[in-house]
Amino acid sequence: MAEIVLDGVTKRYPDGTTAVSELDLKIADKEFIILVGPSGCGKSTTLNMIAGLEDISAGELTIGGARMNEKAPRDRDIAMVFQSYALYPHMTVAENIAFPLRLAKVGKAESKRKVQEAAHLLDIEQFLDRRPAHLSGGQRQRVAMGRAIVRDPKAFLMDEPLSNLDAKLRVQMRTMISRLQKHLGTTTVYVTHDQTEAMTLGDRIVLMRKGVVQQMGPPEELYEHPHNLFVAGFIGSPSMNFLNADVTSDGLQTVLGPIPVSDRMRRALEANNAPAQVIVGIRPEAFGDARLVRERRPEGHDLTFTGHVDVLESLGAEKFAYIDLGSSGAIESEHLAEAFQGNVTDQSRSQLIARLDPMSRARRGENIELDYDPDAIDLFEPETGVNLSERV
Ligand SMILES: Nc1ncnc2c1ncn2[C@@H]1O[C@H](COP(=O)(O)OP(=O)(O)OP(=O)(O)O)[C@@H](O)[C@H]1O
Ligand SMILES: [Mg+2]
Repeated sequence: MAEIVLDGVTKRYPDGTTAVSELDLKIADKEFIILVGPSGCGKSTTLNMIAGLEDISAGELTIGGARMNEKAPRDRDIAMVFQSYALYPHMTVAENIAFPLRLAKVGKAESKRKVQEAAHLLDIEQFLDRRPAHLSGGQRQRVAMGRAIVRDPKAFLMDEPLSNLDAKLRVQMRTMISRLQKHLGTTTVYVTHDQTEAMTLGDRIVLMRKGVVQQMGPPEELYEHPHNLFVAGFIGSPSMNFLNADVTSDGLQTVLGPIPVSDRMRRALEANNAPAQVIVGIRPEAFGDARLVRERRPEGHDLTFTGHVDVLESLGAEKFAYIDLGSSGAIESEHLAEAFQGNVTDQSRSQLIARLDPMSRARRGENIELDYDPDAIDLFEPETGVNLSERV
């Protein structure tokens, strides 16, 4: 049993930086939790406090019911895997994996059996006699995982373990880690700044911003019901589209044209004392090629608008149309600026991205009529970023 509980855990560095602020998090036994957020939001600090590599300034950490705040890292019975593999170059793969067992004075036969078992799980049996220098990055990372696995720890703590690998290998390793975690049933806390990794790996996501948790829950929940602009912008690739809207008695006035407001939405706006200007959020997949939609659903009466296709990306199973909205579409929001940090394709805020069926005849440089469902939109308060439509 290794439930990990953080109760009001706070980290203040000596220079006054508050890296993590009153974090409450209950990680169930066997659960796979992802800490995600932009650079500097406090992910590694949180992980390091769980590991005992950083002191906890306030609050309490328990693992398996026992208070850990004052316990040394080696007494916490957890294994860490980092971005850098930190393997011993002069040892073979087998010796590297066996290293923690040697420290724990585990017998030769037992140690050999455990190394074999881990190597089998990780599919690196054929490399056991090699030295790390003669392995690929992915293989090295698997050796590092092996070293964590043989200890049979209460929990795995992983800090961006895949970020040194190329994109394809990352996807393979992701699948492997996910399978391995389910197989071993070891409580795992995994840090990444990559929302795709977060969406695909864990049971639950904890999305942080400047040391404060913005939302935690299963991936679909953050995707479908983001609590605020930051969450909405951070989760999803390509990101949700955002537009300014004036709230009038006839509905929302946007650069796409007027959007009628449903009764539910109207109630939400009133209940929240919504300002006269809000931000509309629409996911790329909420749009469709109007021509195709009409063919398939003649009775459909969603909203349509016509836009100019600046860029078209055909990925086989889907097409992404980048629609130029001009400067009137641009949004200034610190919430979004932070959510999009480092995400180059989303930085141009006067663009709308529509995910279209591969059958769409959208062409670069031409206009296209797009269809969208007014009920698929979210409304946000521009200042606070709060999702108005979620709080009815
Ligand atoms: N020793 C330190 N002294 C003062 N501030 C620190 C120290 N270590 C980290 N910080 C600050 O604490 C905040 C959180 O850092 P942390 O390393 O936890 O971020 P992170 O979410 O892991 O980011 P990244 O994705 O870049 O790894 C940052 O603002 C960082 O500058
Ligand atoms: Mg970090």
